[in-house]
Amino acid sequence: MALVEIENLHLAIRAFEGEAQVLAGVDLAIERGEIWGLVGETGCGKSLTGLSISRLVSSPPARYPKGAIRFDGRDILAADEAEMRKLRGRRIGMIFQDPTTNLNPAFRVGEQMIDVALHAARVDASVLGLDAKASARARRAAARALAVRLLERVGVARAAERVDDYPHQFSGGMRQRVLIAMALIGKPDLLIADEPTTALDVSVQAQILKLLHELAREQGLAILLITHNLGVVAQIASHVAVMYAGRVVERGAARAVLKAPAHPYTQALIASLPRAGAARGSLVGIPGVVPNLFSPPAGCRFAPRCPLAVARCGEAPPLEAAGAAREVACWRAERAA
Ligand SMILES: Nc1ncnc2c1ncn2[C@@H]1O[C@H](COP(=O)(O)OP(=O)(O)OP(=O)(O)O)[C@@H](O)[C@H]1O
Ligand SMILES: [Mg+2]
Repeated sequence: MALVEIENLHLAIRAFEGEAQVLAGVDLAIERGEIWGLVGETGCGKSLTGLSISRLVSSPPARYPKGAIRFDGRDILAADEAEMRKLRGRRIGMIFQDPTTNLNPAFRVGEQMIDVALHAARVDASVLGLDAKASARARRAAARALAVRLLERVGVARAAERVDDYPHQFSGGMRQRVLIAMALIGKPDLLIADEPTTALDVSVQAQILKLLHELAREQGLAILLITHNLGVVAQIASHVAVMYAGRVVERGAARAVLKAPAHPYTQALIASLPRAGAARGSLVGIPGVVPNLFSPPAGCRFAPRCPLAVARCGEAPPLEAAGAAREVACWRAERAA
């Protein structure tokens, strides 16, 4: 059994204009130690997929009409709020895309980490290495020591002093390390990192990716890395899932998918990457626009933009094996072994 199993997940969100069908068949399975890159154009449902795993999409206005999410065998869509709070504090670490939900500028970094650690310890006292009867003071001291250790682990120099600094005293790359350290406090099995390197320059980005890669290898941490950047996926992901308009259209071993994409959408996404040495003015976009999610096309949602579309694409293609290491949802994909 995989650590995370998402099957045919559908998510609809009620809004003024009607109900948007934002997820319409997300299929994903993540094993321990795997790094999954979740990619696709803006608005395709990457963040909502990540938030759904920790059930952070407020319902109402959202509802899950179909599909399932299981975390280590637990039915996430059926879990009560108390159980979800436990999972979030301990076993699922998250780095959010929305910066306002990240570090609070008014509090010292250490204070914020201690708060998270004390919360995690209420779920599982072993997070602090103490038994449940330890005094409040002992717990606080242990939480602070844990914060320093984790800051050291993510490469913050002089962590014992820096723990008392405010967020603005850290550079962007260092703040991202702090957020990773925070997400690791409960010793999670899964880290969901939503665009963790998007705001960083390429050399700092590479350092953060290296850190995530080490964490996956050393601790068997599973990582869902949400990014619109295929270069990031190529650097560290073991697997990749490509989303289009709320569906996973292709998934599999990162190397196989990036080297020989099978879905016309993945092909277009890769073809639109700028290449060094390409002739000036030769940049290609994907023609057409993403569908309106309030009245999405029946069948394959990419068909209106797809150069290979045929009449059959009016019927939604299932996600099926194409070769040994990947699956693709396309009637026209070549399914060579
Ligand atoms: N609370 C909400 N109510 C209504 N629609 C929403 C809500 N949150 C997200 N959406 C819509 O759902 C779709 C998917 O959003 P999501 O944030 O998951 O996209 P994304 O793939 O993460 O995009 P990006 O790359 O820009 O972060 C978008 O069309 C978005 O407008
Ligand atoms: Mg997003």
